[in-house]
Amino acid sequence: MIGRGEVVLIALAAADRDEKRFAEADVFDLGREARGHLAFGGGIHQCLGAGLARMEGTIAIEQLLTRFPGIRLAEPSGRWRASILIRGLDRLIVTLD
Ligand code: HEM
Repeated sequence: MIGRGEVVLIALAAADRDEKRFAEADVFDLGREARGHLAFGGGIHQCLGAGLARMEGTIAIEQLLTRFPGIRLAEPSGRWRASILIRGLDRLIVTLD
């Protein structure tokens, strides 16, 4: 129930954790069939930079793995941002050899 005058914040990112839409939605799975995800929004306000962001991400990760093939996590999990709007890491310590 939402009471009169109560504030409702919509967390778009929560939609991609919907177990009815994606099996094991909380598992980080790069191979998942994720058509229809909302990471770049949807509809008329779909992210205009999605193509660029995908290209930049591909280049950055490919270059990182090519230059540092021995890259490994130095801690089990990074430090996550406190924001409820944008999910992301503040810090992720790695070793390079
Ligand atoms: C991984 C990187 C990015 C993510 C996850 C992302 C995510 C999003 C999301 C979820 C929206 C929809 C917001 C809403 O529904 O109100 C959005 C909108 C938008 N994004 Fe991105 N974005 C990224 C990168 C970029 C880049 C690189 C650019 C530009 C160079 C960009 C430009 C825009 C613009 C202009 C809109 C507004 C579109 C509109 O309201 O019609 N984004 N983005």
